[in-house]
Amino acid sequence: MIGLLDRLARRLLHALDPEDAHRLAINMLKFAPLLRAGTDDKRLATRAFGLNFPNPVGVAAGFDKHGEVPDALLRVGFGFVEIGTVTPLPQPGNPRPRLFRLDADCGVINRLGFNSEGAAAVLARLAGRTNSGIVGLNIGANKDAPDRILDYVALIERFAPVASYVTINISSPNTPGLRNMQQAAVLDDLLARVIDARERVVQRSGPTPVLLKIAPDLSLPDLDDAVGIARSRRVDGMIVGNTTVTRPATLQDAATAKEAGGLSGRPLLALANRMLAETYVRVEGVFPLVGVGGIDSGEAALAKIRAGATLIQVYSGLVFRGLGLLDEIKNALIAAVEHDQMDDLRDYVGADAASVTAEPWPR
Ligand SMILES: Cc1cc2nc3c(=O)[nH]c(=O)nc-3n(C[C@H](O)[C@H](O)[C@H](O)COP(=O)(O)O)c2cc1C
Repeated sequence: MIGLLDRLARRLLHALDPEDAHRLAINMLKFAPLLRAGTDDKRLATRAFGLNFPNPVGVAAGFDKHGEVPDALLRVGFGFVEIGTVTPLPQPGNPRPRLFRLDADCGVINRLGFNSEGAAAVLARLAGRTNSGIVGLNIGANKDAPDRILDYVALIERFAPVASYVTINISSPNTPGLRNMQQAAVLDDLLARVIDARERVVQRSGPTPVLLKIAPDLSLPDLDDAVGIARSRRVDGMIVGNTTVTRPATLQDAATAKEAGGLSGRPLLALANRMLAETYVRVEGVFPLVGVGGIDSGEAALAKIRAGATLIQVYSGLVFRGLGLLDEIKNALIAAVEHDQMDDLRDYVGADAASVTAEPWPR
């Protein structure tokens, strides 16, 4: 029944403008009576940065930007939800249209530009939660902030008490200059001040994990720097990665591919897996990685874990496959551990990282 409703809803959603469809999907999650997913197979349980995840499949940032439906998403069976990006002050983002589906490619291009209801609105929603499931918060700077680092510091201080973890997003391509914060000197200053801020509120909040989300478009020397700084500043993990500004030669929807913005979904999978594996070999097990980009099947989910991900996240795959994708992924992971007679997913993490980094660079 839930599958049938999901299929009908998806047909309806695909007939709409992508941004209207997304609003409708959020409202359906908000108001529709949802079936509660059963308890997860204990072999899917995953521990990372001090948190216990019932399963490793999360919702990526951008799906629930304003924290409207995290508990509904947990109820349908996700292991965790990352809300945001949230900016300190409300801001409208870029003018519409700013979200495009590449149906022939199962891809999405967005240039939303951190449309956010702002910290106060999201804080009130998070503070009112009663469910204890894992909800991380992805934070960003306001477009016109005089000191962008200060925006991240202020958000950490405000949200550490109510967020399971906080992600520093400096990898969105849609806020001019934001990705320059990935440069070594700026990144070092940013992480030093963010970790300081976390320590200042630790008495009140406990040790809120801080993750860094990077772009899949970093050069390898820049990735060397980013990982080195993340390690020396002792972040708790990295998310690899955000959308890409590149356009793979294989894209079929050439007209839509010309839209400015970040590309996600199936066309991102190979590049995202390569950057994840490159990150994994540099991190040397010091902290876990969250793998995101292009997962739209159980097979792709396992490949992501084997490339180096302890946890995974999905967004665009949900646009094309609906909520059925979640069960497909969980079933595929359980089938793998059963086949290989494993107790959990741990031995898969990074098993293919070395071989992925030896392949020709994905185009
Ligand atoms: C419409 C849309 C909005 C997004 N907004 C954000 C955001 O606010 N913050 C962020 O860190 N990532 C954002 N992302 C990126 C996703 O979190 C994810 O990193 C990327 O889409 C790759 O995963 P996917 O191929 O499964 O979609 C957004 C992606 C999409 C498609």
